[in-house]
This record gives sequence, C-alpha cells and structure tokens, in this order.
Amino acid sequence: MKTYEDLVGDGGSDIIGQVTVLGEKLRARLDKIKHKVALMSGKGGVGKSSITANIASCLADRGHKVGILDADLNGPSIAHLLGVGNNVQLKMKDDGLEPGVGHQEIRIMSMDMLLKTADTPVMWTEETDATAVWVSTMESTATRELLADTNWGELDYLLIDMPPGSDRIDNIRSLIPELAGVVEITIPSPLSQHIVTKSITKNNKMKVPIIGLIENMATYVCPHCDKEGKLFAGEDVHKLTKRKEIPYIGKIPFDTRVSQTSGSLFYNEFKDSVTGQAIAAAVDNIEKFITK
Ligand SMILES: Nc1ncnc2c1ncn2[C@@H]1O[C@H](COP(=O)(O)OP(=O)(O)OP(=O)(O)O)[C@@H](O)[C@H]1O
Ligand SMILES: [Mg+2]
Repeated sequence: MKTYEDLVGDGGSDIIGQVTVLGEKLRARLDKIKHKVALMSGKGGVGKSSITANIASCLADRGHKVGILDADLNGPSIAHLLGVGNNVQLKMKDDGLEPGVGHQEIRIMSMDMLLKTADTPVMWTEETDATAVWVSTMESTATRELLADTNWGELDYLLIDMPPGSDRIDNIRSLIPELAGVVEITIPSPLSQHIVTKSITKNNKMKVPIIGLIENMATYVCPHCDKEGKLFAGEDVHKLTKRKEIPYIGKIPFDTRVSQTSGSLFYNEFKDSVTGQAIAAAVDNIEKFITK
C-alpha cells in the first residue's frame, strides 16, 4: 500500500492548479457585482432573513439589480421568503448554475434549492460522530461553491443572509475581501443586545467594516390605528451603538404582515406602512454608507 510519503509531488492531483482555477472563477463572478453586504447578528431569530429579504425588495424597487446568497446552510430561509422554494429546477449552463429568480427578479442561491423536498433537512454526514472541525470545513466549502458556481451575472448588490453566530463572517470575508461591510441586527431584548455586542466586538477586532446596527421588532404598530408601543423590555439600543461607536441605522417595528408569505415581499406590498417606511430609511443609510 502506498503511503502519503511515497507520493511524488502532488501525486498528480495538481492541487495548486485546482485551487487557482477555483479562485479565478470566484473572482470573475465577484467582479461583476458592485456591492457586497452581509447581514448578521450573534443572535438567532432576530429577523436577519426577513430584513435581508425586505432590504432586497426595497433596493430592487429603487431600480437596483439585487441578488441574495443564503449563507445559512442549516436553516435556509431565503428561497421560501422569495417565493422560490425548493421545487425549482436548477439549470447548469456553460457559465455555471443559474440562480433562482424570486419576487421582483431578485436572484437567489440557497441550500434549500438543492434539497429534494421542503421537509428535507441539511445533513452533512450520516456519521453521528463526525467532528465539528470536519463539518465546519464542509460548510465553508459549500459556501464557497454556492458563491462561485452561481452565475450571478451583473448585480448592483449581493446581500448575504448570515446564519446566527459571530464566526461565519470570517469565511465570507476570506471569500469576499472587498465586502462593503456588515449590517448587525438585534431586537431590543437584553439577551439579544448582550449577544449582538459580542458580534460587534469581534467584527471591530477583525476590522470587518460595520455599516451599522438595525433594531428590529423595536416597537409594535397597531394595524388599526398605526400607534406604536414597546414589545420588549430592554435598554435603549442607541446606548449600545454609542458605547460600541457604530451607527444606529434603523428602527423597524413589528408588523404581523412581515411573516406572511404571499405573492410578494412585505416591503413591496406595504411600503407606505410605518414598518415599510422604516425599512426604506434603513436602506437610505446603507446606500449612504456605500456611496460614501
Ligand atoms: N419586523 C418584524 N415584524 C414581524 N415579524 C417579524 C419581523 N422581523 C422578523 N419577524 C418574524 O420573526 C421570525 C424570525 O425571523 P427570521 O427568520 O427572519 O430571523 P433570523 O434572524 O433570520 O432567524 P435565524 O437565526 O433562525 O436565521 C419570523 O417568523 C419572521 O417572520
Ligand atoms: Mg435566518
């Protein structure tokens, strides 16, 4: 039996050549996309995917060509929110995998589109004792492939919907060094603010540009009288942004219609509502940062 030591050079695999080709392919894709923005939070369930989808809707409404990479491989939401689901027939063309096209022509790529049925979970391995390092390596590789194999075409914005946690941004940053920045999202609860603070601290340490913090579910808007009230106890989120010296870029109220999945995105349907206008104000701030 041959061992690793018996191999001459790279054993004929041309591993360096393969890595170079992959890197060039990724670069060629990314060069056609003007601005790349990741939306994240240390905390789960604070509305990252919903805000990403509605920011995309607002950008598309302003005439931009928009794509979303669903970087949440284990809990993919974007295909569902954009009305693409997993029943799309993925087409492989000469120039790569065609992205799904969701509401308002927003191009998307999500793990969900690669699964057999809506109920199929993402499983990296059948082995229950697979090490965390191995699983995380597979996840990093899958993200690179979703990004590089998708024929995004020319885009003004690529939004990246991040999974919960603070660490996956490292992989995105290494794949997209020119990332314009990240938008952090929190809800007003003390627990969410506690966790998002860690994510902000880490990004500052790693010199990941932070566009600003969005406070989601900041208030509840009565659908009958449009009056706003508090939904969560918690310190004013402005204090957090002042302490961490980052911009406060959006205060988005809770609106039950955000969770409806109908034929279009919330923003597109209800842009004149209080929550719709709050989304537009956050997008103003993101665009200001980008054009600065
Ligand atoms: N402003 C809002 N008003 C009403 N419902 C909202 C709002 N923002 C988010 N939601 C709802 O909250 C739930 C969680 O949102 P979402 O899945 O977008 O969060 P997430 O941060 O992406 O979660 P995960 O960490 O699992 O990826 C969803 O049911 C969504 O419809
Ligand atoms: Mg999500």
